[in-house]
Amino acid sequence: MKAKGVIIGIGLLAVAAGGATWALIDRDAGPEIVAARMEPVSFQLPEEAIPAELSDAGAEIVVNNCTACHSLEYVTTQPRGMGEKFWHDEVTKMVKVYGAPVAPGDAEAIAKLLAERFG
Ligand code: HEC
Repeated sequence: MKAKGVIIGIGLLAVAAGGATWALIDRDAGPEIVAARMEPVSFQLPEEAIPAELSDAGAEIVVNNCTACHSLEYVTTQPRGMGEKFWHDEVTKMVKVYGAPVAPGDAEAIAKLLAERFG
């Protein structure tokens, strides 16, 4: 019984998808697809805010090295009291696993600073 419902569901989805595709076609323009005539859209990304804990000159090394791929909230929302090894391992993971371009000396300095500020 359940399988029947799923099959009907998939059938309905297929019909809906077909309808949606049909809606994209400007019937007066023949087979030309409306999307091909769309104007480029420009938009403003929200301002990237530097969290207060990392907004001083001393934390520049973190801002410069750690914002290319994600916001600094990845740092500030980590649980407190994880210890220096945690931060060292985090920075190492960013470099080795995700390919963060951080100079070895900077990696040490970043880990130390994060451990001092975020425990
Ligand atoms: C090359 C890209 C890149 C750079 C640069 C980068 N990260 Fe990440 N970071 C990631 C990715 C990818 C994740 C995992 C995202 C996810 O799972 O949602 C992540 C996640 C994190 C997390 C969340 C915990 C975790 O381990 O998933 C923390 C904390 C973090 N990064 C800290 C840093 C710090 C500190 C720096 C600067 C040294 C940094 N990141 C630079 C790619 C990067």
